[in-house]
Amino acid sequence: MNILVTGGAGYIGSVLTEELVRQGHRVIVLDNLKEGHRAAVVPEAIFIQADLSDREPLQDVFRHHRVEAVMHLAADTSVEYSMAEPGRFFWNNVACGINLLECMLKRGVKKLVFSSSAAVYGQPKEVPITEAAPFSPINAYGESKAIFERILHWYGQAYGFRPVSLRYFNVAGASKRFGEDHHPETKLIPNIIKVALGQQEHIPIFGTDYDTQDGTCVRDYIHVLDIARAHILALNCLEGNAGSKAYNLGNGEGHSVIEVIEAARRVTGTAIPVKVNPRRPGDPAKLVASSKLAEVEIGWKPEYPELESIIESAWQWQKEHPHGYNGR
Ligand code: UFG
Repeated sequence: MNILVTGGAGYIGSVLTEELVRQGHRVIVLDNLKEGHRAAVVPEAIFIQADLSDREPLQDVFRHHRVEAVMHLAADTSVEYSMAEPGRFFWNNVACGINLLECMLKRGVKKLVFSSSAAVYGQPKEVPITEAAPFSPINAYGESKAIFERILHWYGQAYGFRPVSLRYFNVAGASKRFGEDHHPETKLIPNIIKVALGQQEHIPIFGTDYDTQDGTCVRDYIHVLDIARAHILALNCLEGNAGSKAYNLGNGEGHSVIEVIEAARRVTGTAIPVKVNPRRPGDPAKLVASSKLAEVEIGWKPEYPELESIIESAWQWQKEHPHGYNGR
């Protein structure tokens, strides 16, 4: 199938593209390279540097490459920055996404796998979180993903779009070739590894007064390879899908910030000093997925559920790429 992957030079997009190519799909990667890296795109994929805000070039991509399905990953993803610059998040994650939908509409492409997030739920009353939990985001990033899911619903109603929204929990780890390289890096596991590599003196812990087992935030860490596989399973199920669908993607197990640091100490054999900082705005206390629906409906079950093996894969990648893709 001819598949357009937006954000395909980013962290998850690069691993997904690698998997799609391996399975014999023809992949067209579209990325503006503001966050992504050209070196993160397998040579077998077609690469186009473009921004989703430009409708004309986007329209050309659909025309020239006979796109049959879209996996829409391009987005601003940092919860932290979304609290300081919400406008940027609504522009990139919502307005530019509508451009993409309009191009799809014009070319009659109705198959879409959308990268959504656990952040749509805010801090739900019940954990593990099922897809029935209401949208109640507590950061602008989650709000932008919730709005776009609602938009997809209405495109489904009006035009027969068949979107699947994948609500990722905390994606981490690396494939053998591709890993996580943000500038600046805000995420926990890559920053812990920077400390292990001696690139940072300590890891800040953002808040120790949450209502959790040790006072630090609890998250459900999920291997990027499992996330990539979910996209392919979702795509395979799109044929029979009428209307919009959404699936939570996590391991169903929560780990506190302190537990992640302890696991990283075991994996890396280093001390990893910590420093307690105040809470980071927009952080929910606890996010843990119930992914039963994905298991039942698309046959997805994580293959790499252990936190230590997730950290190990990130550790191996960052050791081999101590300054990321560009040696910056
Ligand atoms: N944290 C620290 N120190 C750090 C970095 C993070 O204590 O240096 C804490 C955060 O406060 C949070 C936890 O570690 O409690 C995880 O933080 P991340 O930044 O790694 O991830 P988030 O949970 O904020 O967000 C991630 C993705 C989002 C996605 C969300 C879904 O970046 O895109 O998971 O759960 F929406």
